[in-house]
Amino acid sequence: MSKDAHSKPSGDMKRSNKHSKAAVHNPEIQRQRRALPITSGRDAIIEHIRNEDVVVILGETGSGKTTQVPQYILEGGLAGDAGMIAITQPRRVAATSLADRVANEQEVRLGTQVGYSVRFDEKTSRSTRIKFVTDGMIMRELMSDPLLSKYNVVIVDEAHERTIRTDIFIASLKTIQKQRNHPTDEDGGGKSATKGAGIPPLKVIIMSATMDAEKFSKFFDKASIVYVKGRTHPVEIFHTSQHQADYVEAALKTFYQIHTDRPDGDVLIFLPGQEDIESLADTIRSFAKRLPHTAKQVLVCTMFASQPAAQIEKVFKTTPANTRKCILATNIAETSITIPGVVHVIDTGKHKQKRFLAGDTGGGFDTLLTRDISQSSAMQRTGRAGRESKGYCYRLYTEAAFKDMARSLEPEIARVGLASPMLDLLCLDIELEKLELLDRPDESNVVFALKALLFLGAIDAQKRITPLGRKMASFPLEPSHARAILASKDHACTREVLDIISVLSASSKLFMDITEKRDEIAEARAKFKHSSGDHLTILNVVRSYEQLASETDSAKKKWCRKHFLNEKSLAEAMAIREQLRQVCTRCEVYWKVSIGETVDGDPVLRSLAAALILNAAILQPDGTYKQAMGHAKVKIHPGSLLTDKKAPAIIYDELVYTTQIYARGVSSIPKSDLMQMLAGALKPAPQ
Ligand code: CDP
Ligand code: MG
Repeated sequence: MSKDAHSKPSGDMKRSNKHSKAAVHNPEIQRQRRALPITSGRDAIIEHIRNEDVVVILGETGSGKTTQVPQYILEGGLAGDAGMIAITQPRRVAATSLADRVANEQEVRLGTQVGYSVRFDEKTSRSTRIKFVTDGMIMRELMSDPLLSKYNVVIVDEAHERTIRTDIFIASLKTIQKQRNHPTDEDGGGKSATKGAGIPPLKVIIMSATMDAEKFSKFFDKASIVYVKGRTHPVEIFHTSQHQADYVEAALKTFYQIHTDRPDGDVLIFLPGQEDIESLADTIRSFAKRLPHTAKQVLVCTMFASQPAAQIEKVFKTTPANTRKCILATNIAETSITIPGVVHVIDTGKHKQKRFLAGDTGGGFDTLLTRDISQSSAMQRTGRAGRESKGYCYRLYTEAAFKDMARSLEPEIARVGLASPMLDLLCLDIELEKLELLDRPDESNVVFALKALLFLGAIDAQKRITPLGRKMASFPLEPSHARAILASKDHACTREVLDIISVLSASSKLFMDITEKRDEIAEARAKFKHSSGDHLTILNVVRSYEQLASETDSAKKKWCRKHFLNEKSLAEAMAIREQLRQVCTRCEVYWKVSIGETVDGDPVLRSLAAALILNAAILQPDGTYKQAMGHAKVKIHPGSLLTDKKAPAIIYDELVYTTQIYARGVSSIPKSDLMQMLAGALKPAPQ
């Protein structure tokens, strides 16, 4: 293990932008680049990577790992003359915004030498050398290029987040390295190692912001760990004396206390999700309007995963004079993106966490719940206040609550549904159960995922992937959604199903649901309403929205506002639909074939039902619903537009768990159809 990576700062950064038109030269950006803490370790990092196959880099958030290491590799000639460097990110918005920053630093246009590839969006070209990718996208690349032969160096960033895709990707990298770096080594790669002959060796770099580097080092046979010193200043921490039931309100009060009484400097508020962020942003803005003109003004910025990268750029702009910037962010600002100028951090102590709730009898479902963060996250959040000078962190929870938090977050693989990653792996002839992983998933979750894949027809009873399964995996979608599209081929309604699935795949919800306005909303949307429920209602909305194609953006926005629809979600859905159509063409699913202008819902619902068989529920004599394939009792979400709230059989998009389990995105289907499908699906489970 090496000590702190200290060596002389390097001023002579070679820039190889001969392939592309240079973007504007910006001396300020180059100055910022040289001033980063990691700069002093540049030569040491390059040497480690030159001499070793795997290097773990551990460094404080904001030290410059993500933006600099890929450039060091390029400038140090470590990727060969034309080899590519991939750098993975758990979140798409981090991938796109960091690619943009690195392109600026390299003084090239984004998409030329520096590019990105995320789900439903790609900006690369033949000259791309540094490519930011989401961990999901690189797993897809493995399907067409199992040895990642395009890349000479792969950097796994934010490895401490331990997302399931990152974990699986790290495991795959270990296998790929054996095949590429030791192709004749019997111990190393075994028989399959010969596959890697002729492809240059692969370098792997694992980057982490927390102290868990040992685990990665051990996993890669005691790989070197390079420590990058951060630049941190003391942060004073305040806890509340009492539990705060309403963290949004507590955050609002704390912000205005800071604004009126505390030292200068921007404020970063950590909140669990987009909804809280948007509602608090509105409140802070409306209070700010009432501030006297002589008072310091407030500039509100937001930052969450589904926000367009262009909007995120706003938070990096220097705060105007006599103004305090207030940034409302999810845990994306914890380690992925560093915001300059922050002196005060308000930490609600909450985040949204995906968790698979396994039922007692083998069923289960994914939930996205607001939960307490871990101590490790709390410390990261606190650290965001001390990047440039002394900082302050206001925790909206008691000191006792902090002590009760888990030390670090459980890896995602231990708590989410596995059907989708397992299907992707099966395409590569890899069984998750046999993969050498950092942490193993729960056996019951593996069994449940296999059952789900069997029901969807993606695997056979011997756990072998079927041709249908392979096609499902070629869609960048959950297996069930891909199944719906493939089923639509038999029912000649692909266009309709694509419309619906595209909306369901958008990152924000189409239907705004404001409890107090439920009646007003129902009235405004009445003309779209389809009696069978939410799926065909979505289709009606899409059809109406398409008729506005020639209207101006503001007219479209106005129309959406009038009907309480989310325009962002519709616009995104249209882009997604385009991508899905391309995949359809490749899979020989002819999306143009349509059942006609007046929507006959039955074939569409039948296609959806084939896919949502695990998300079906049957009405019980006591008026409640019970899952068809599980034992959970579910209620129809009050926001659902299904007319007959006592339909004999329903399908739903998801279960949300608040005080009860609610099915959201609900349609009724003929019970006989469901029974027929269940009979077909209930073959023996794979061994
Ligand atoms: O990966 P790590 O947390 O070590 O740092 P980084 O993401 O490479 O960020 C290094 C610096 O670049 C930070 O000070 C950021 O504020 C800055 N940065 C920026 O100004 N604009 C961006 N779009 C991205 C990063
Ligand atoms: Mg980083």
